[in-house]
Parts: sequence; structure tokens; C-alpha cells
Amino acid sequence: MAEIHDRPPEEFTLRLRRFNPESGEAPYWDEHTVELEPHRSVLEGILQARDKFDGSIGIRCSCRQAICGSCGIRVNGEPSLACHTHLDAAKASAKDGVIEIEPMGNMPVLKDLIVDMDAVHWKKIQRVTPWLLAKEPVPEREYIVPKESMVDVTQTMACIQCGACVSDCLAMEVDPGFIGPAALAKAYRFVGDPRDDEQFERLNDLSQDPQGIFDCTHCFKCVEACPKGVNPMGQIMRLRRIASSDQHITDKNNGVRHEHAFATLVKDNGLLWEAELLPRSYGGDSFFGKFHPAAAKELISSLPAILKALMRGKVTPMGALKPHKIPKADLASVQAIYEKIDNREERYELNLYIAGEDEAPEEPVAAAVGAPEDSAAGQGTAEASEADTGASEDAGNGTEGSTEQ
Ligand code: SF4
Ligand code: SF4
Ligand code: FES
Repeated sequence: MAEIHDRPPEEFTLRLRRFNPESGEAPYWDEHTVELEPHRSVLEGILQARDKFDGSIGIRCSCRQAICGSCGIRVNGEPSLACHTHLDAAKASAKDGVIEIEPMGNMPVLKDLIVDMDAVHWKKIQRVTPWLLAKEPVPEREYIVPKESMVDVTQTMACIQCGACVSDCLAMEVDPGFIGPAALAKAYRFVGDPRDDEQFERLNDLSQDPQGIFDCTHCFKCVEACPKGVNPMGQIMRLRRIASSDQHITDKNNGVRHEHAFATLVKDNGLLWEAELLPRSYGGDSFFGKFHPAAAKELISSLPAILKALMRGKVTPMGALKPHKIPKADLASVQAIYEKIDNREERYELNLYIAGEDEAPEEPVAAAVGAPEDSAAGQGTAEASEADTGASEDAGNGTEGSTEQ
């Protein structure tokens, strides 16, 4: 670490996207070269450019340590926190050695790098009732909740409301009314909280809204964009699972039916049969789904898109009539995955945010083969088991937390 911080200052050229709505002029690019140590942040680079060359550069920041969420921008096209992006890393990922800095996407620009978070991000957060609707009767002292429940919502509580996920959400780009990744992650924070009294109402509301949980297209952009590992897409999938599997909500957007049709087609054919997906989503999850009036209506309204796809060779009539074929052994492997998941007694939820293990139960001293009683005392389990298996000294030295370094 000391080596990184000892590197001398270097020159970095920043290409800033500038826009001042009051001037009536179109946005333009503006370049400045700053001199800073390479480990300094892009934010420090922008602030130096503002101090030295142009005091009118607009940038929002506060904590300068990736906590307040106010310095969201795009660096070389990727959503980033300006204070959490090193200049050397930004230069390395730049196409021509010039660090390109733009305001975040999907939100109106107020000035230069400052976007209107109120108009989009905060409006959507308000949409999901971002507070606890407490269960009655409220206990005299405090609610007692299982530790696991709170671990489960910790991931969403790590959100710093920076808007990076909103900036890159592909569904919001197409449909600005989509509630979006940050707000839906916030919704999970309360849906997953056992003290909240309105799990069903919240989920039903977000399921029935055509711009709710079923509007997400699983593009993973929000997962990549989030600097805090909140995994908004994962939270949206959890909302869907609880809504459909636990609360048995069937939405009027055909979201649940669409998921069932998708899963069944992959299970039966090993690959998705795209032409069957739409009719089954509307008409029912079987071969006969396409004969349902709701499916016919949807197919007719989609005819222009279908014709365009046929003309451009994206689909063929044979491809529409027959499912894809994969080798029998591969199909069996796919179906084995379904079987394993379907036969689980309990749904398995992965919370990838909290890592680590519960403390291993202490091995009974007698389990240390042939070890005298006092030699095991005071040693960690790992060390004891290495002694048992005759593990080499090298391996023992690599044990995390070992004091013998
Ligand atoms: S996964 Fe869903 S919520 Fe996340 S960016 Fe893509 S469309 Fe938006
Ligand atoms: S979910 Fe992540 S990217 Fe989205 S607002 Fe919260 S911290 Fe920022
Ligand atoms: S200034 Fe607070 S997150 Fe960057």
C-alpha cells in the first residue's frame, strides 16, 4: 500500500461533458489536464480542474469516501462514484488515454455533471413507501426478530442512494416509468423485514403495477453498477419469488405466467422455444395455450414485430414451428437440475453479501488422535485438524488468523 501512495504526481487529461441549460447551448466536451498522484480519485481530478482552470464546472460531492452517494458520474461510459475511482484505473480503462467523464444516465442533467435526482431517483424511492409499517400491537420495549431475518435485509440496507444502478438500467431507458432497481431494492428492505405488517399489500402493489417487479429484464446492469454490492436485480427476483411462491399473487401483467412458461419450455426442450413463449404466457402454460383467445389477441397485436423479425431473418417459419434440439444427454442434465430444485424441501435463498462462517464447534480433545490433552489446549480447530492429518508446516502457516507468521 505504501508503494502505491509513494508514486509521484502524473498528468491526467479529463474530458468533461459540459451543459448549462441556462445558456441555451447544446452540451459540449471540455478538456483539462490535472497533475495528481495516480492513486488520487477522479473527484480530486475534477475539483483540481475546477480550482485551477474553470470555476464553473458543476459537480456534486460531500463525503469523498464512498458513503454519501452524491458524486455519481459516468467514467469512460461506466457508472461510478467519482470519489471511489482512482485516476490510474480510470486512465487504464480509457480508450485514448483521456478520462471521459459524463453525468449519470436516465436522469435529467441540471448542470454539467449534476443530475436531477429528485425528478427520478427520489420520486421512485417514495413510490415504494420507504418506511416500516409496523405490526400491531407495537411492543412496549422492542420487537424481537430472528438474527437471520436481519442478515437477510442487510444487503439492501447497504444502499447509499447514489443512483448508479438507475443510471444504467436498460428497462428504465426504454420505460422511464419503471420503478427501477434502487427503489425495488428498497422495497425488499421492508418486504423482508419481519416487523413490517404489509408484506402482501406491498408485493401485490408491485406485482400489479405494469412498471413494477415484472418490468425488469434481468440485464444485470444494476448488479455491475452498484458500488456497494446491493445486487438490486437479486432483490427484485426475491420480491418476485415471495410474491408468487409465498403470497400466491397472480399479476395482471402475466409476469408469473411468463416465468412459468419460460421455465417449462427450457425444462421440456433444454433451450427456450421463443415462438411458444408469448402465446403460453398469455394463454396458459401448455401446447394448447396458443389457442386461448387472450393469446390470439396478443399474437395479432404482435404481428408487425413478428413480420419484421421474419423479414430480417431473426426467426424462420421452421424455427417458430419446432423447438430447438439439443443432444439427449444435455437435455437430461438440464432436467436433472430442475428435478433437484423441485425436490428441495425448502427454498434456498442466497445472500451473497454476508460472507463468513459460524464459529466451528470446538473439537472434543479426545478427537485429536494420540495428542496429549494439554497440547490441544489453546489451539484453533484448524491447527488441531492439521495435526491429525499430518498437514505440512507450510499449509499450517497459511492458516488465516495464525499468530505464527
Ligand atoms: S436487471 Fe432489471 S433493474 Fe437491473 S438494470 Fe437490468 S432491467 Fe434494470
Ligand atoms: S443499489 Fe447500489 S447503485 Fe443503486 S442506489 Fe443503492 S448503492 Fe447506488
Ligand atoms: S462524495 Fe460521497 S460518495 Fe463520493
